[in-house]
Amino acid sequence: MKVSPSILTCDYARLGDEIGFVERTGADMLHLDVMDGVFVPNLSFGPPVIKRLRPLTGLTFDVHLMMQYPDRLIDAFVDAGADIINIHVESGSPIEPTLDHIISCGKKAALTIKPATPANAVFPYLDKLGLVLVMTVEPGFGGQSFMHEMMPKVAAIRNEIDRRGLSVELEVDGGINAQTAVVAARAGADIAVVGNALFAADDAPALTRQIQSISR
Ligand code: DX5
Ligand code: ZN
Repeated sequence: MKVSPSILTCDYARLGDEIGFVERTGADMLHLDVMDGVFVPNLSFGPPVIKRLRPLTGLTFDVHLMMQYPDRLIDAFVDAGADIINIHVESGSPIEPTLDHIISCGKKAALTIKPATPANAVFPYLDKLGLVLVMTVEPGFGGQSFMHEMMPKVAAIRNEIDRRGLSVELEVDGGINAQTAVVAARAGADIAVVGNALFAADDAPALTRQIQSISR
């Protein structure tokens, strides 16, 4: 599996150093959790912060927009250096036009679904997507427990991707560690977002390698 560390619960007083820490783990991407305090009951950071992080690393910026109206800031996230732009299918933005806008900016478009949203909510858009993100916690906070009951949803999306012969990556996000990553991979996930488990690990590079060694 690829590893995409989430910096949501990192030490924001040392954000630049934390990016260096993520790089030293050998991670494949950087997961940036944008929260607007409306779509989720938490507020994190936005384009100005991402723009300052961009020159610090060559890692792919996997930007997860937990926003009520992500369409209003797509250009700002593109300008800030986002590579993958994840919008929630439950947001208030028009989904197809927003995905088309992301693609027209030359970025990878991704759709995220909350735990209560069924797998088939992303099926109408799969042809446009580079990635689907299945939340394995209720979005808003790091350090929550993995929801095993999301695995049938992961499997259903994996089956649909494979049935249509698409090359859409399947990412899981929330409560991922060395053990739950195996469960998610077995269901069909390609990419693991890892937050607290990585920052709390005694040996973060070893944990990253362990998850990267897991195959579907
Ligand atoms: C939660 C975020 C996740 C979270 C993952 O709303 O989307 O990316 O930060 O953190 P852990 O791995 O600690 O659950
Ligand atoms: Zn996230």
